[in-house]
Amino acid sequence: MFEDKFQKVKEGFTFDDVLLIPFKAFVEPRDVDVSSRLTRNIRLRVPILSSPMDTVTEAEMAIAMARYGGMGVIHRNMSTNEQILLVRQVKREESIIIRDVHTVDPDTPLDVVRSIMKNKHIGGLPVVSGEKLVGIVTKRDIEFADKHKKTVSDIMVSKVISAGDDITIEQATEILFKNRIEKLPLVDKKGRLVGLITAKDIFTREKFPDATRDEEGKLMVSAAVGPFDIDRAINLEKEGVDMIVVDTAHAHNQNVLESVKKMRKNIGVDLVVGNIATRSAAEDLIALDVDGLRVGIGPGSICTTRIIAGIGVPQLTAVSEVAEYADGQGVPVISDGGIRYSGDIVKAFAAGANSVMLGSLFAGTDESPGAEMIINGRKYKSYRGMGSIGAIQKGASDRYGKLGQNKFVAEGVEGAVPYRGKVHEVLFQLVGGLKSGMGYSGAKDIEELRKNSRFIRITTNGLKESHPHDIRVLTEPPNYQNYEL
Ligand code: XMP
Repeated sequence: MFEDKFQKVKEGFTFDDVLLIPFKAFVEPRDVDVSSRLTRNIRLRVPILSSPMDTVTEAEMAIAMARYGGMGVIHRNMSTNEQILLVRQVKREESIIIRDVHTVDPDTPLDVVRSIMKNKHIGGLPVVSGEKLVGIVTKRDIEFADKHKKTVSDIMVSKVISAGDDITIEQATEILFKNRIEKLPLVDKKGRLVGLITAKDIFTREKFPDATRDEEGKLMVSAAVGPFDIDRAINLEKEGVDMIVVDTAHAHNQNVLESVKKMRKNIGVDLVVGNIATRSAAEDLIALDVDGLRVGIGPGSICTTRIIAGIGVPQLTAVSEVAEYADGQGVPVISDGGIRYSGDIVKAFAAGANSVMLGSLFAGTDESPGAEMIINGRKYKSYRGMGSIGAIQKGASDRYGKLGQNKFVAEGVEGAVPYRGKVHEVLFQLVGGLKSGMGYSGAKDIEELRKNSRFIRITTNGLKESHPHDIRVLTEPPNYQNYEL
């Protein structure tokens, strides 16, 4: 019985164990399509997520990720209310249709209008009487108003160009441009003001053509919840979150499965559950009708799970085993943890992932919440595992090892990663590397990379040969940072 365990022992592969074999290509890297499925219902133009970790994803990171085509998952090491505020912040960042419109009425004195405009940084205000739209007043109307004009009704434009609530962004853009106006109030059939579209928001939108947006044009955002925190999930959904990630170190656990079953009944938005690393975990979760699977037990740069608990599956094998089953069920797989270079992303897709999740590579960017520091004259940002002592003490004790009242068994470390500038610069390099890998593989899209690529196993000498060698590197390109320098 014990001997069998070794006779049938399987081999598991991770990023550095393999390379992808080049294939004849009929496509140039610049022409490949990197878009891919994140969940059953969400597709990303850039299939990269930022991890729900307290040194990685809060509102600023989520906004940047969504603007450049990916998605941020807001961590849960905070109260539900705090997390809701961050989701709200992302959702409001670029809402094309403003719903809680600031208004004035015809009798509002002009100095009051002036101070509203100044304090709220608004250039124009719809004028309503009752709830009906009766005019619009802009900063210029006020600036050029005679001294004897006292109230809004004295200066407002009453022939307002407005539109119905069902207008599309394209139609709204056309109206704004044709009439050279900056604000387009939206009214219902009874003439009541129900929303506002501004030219400024449309310009911002055009600056980010790859952005991940919901039907209303707002940036999409995801948030993590604990496996038993159904109330948090319900409240986040009410706030408009687009995807819930059930965030636990071991999702293949009967109590977690039962809770996910309940959560599924209560949650309408896409539900991603993890982490897992085996086919049988995927079978049990897909049976509960989840929309995506997060794969990775112990590959993370800050993880000590494999060392402390002796558990894990090398990441590429874990991804391929889960994807082998999930693919047939139409459920996408997120490869989470262990990605250090863009080449690892190419390998993760080739192993079967539909998207990848990164912690360390984003922790060093301006948009992460971690603290900046200088070590030996070089800039770093703090980064820590959610199972590290620091994170557990702040509250994240249900993901990893709380064994007693105040006793923890940490499964992560705390440290610092090199500063990397803006998220979009990191994403640019990662997507560039992915496209290059697809070019060598002859894959015109992610599906072809997933289905047609082939790995070759390498030795330690092969790995040594792969990295720069026999040179003292003096200049690091942004996509190859050596931590030991
Ligand atoms: P990278 O390699 O991108 O990995 O930094 C990020 C992923 O690591 C997981 N994570 C942890 N795993 N102990 C663990 O075993 C921890 O303390 C820990 N914190 C985060 C998580 O899946 C994340 O997305």
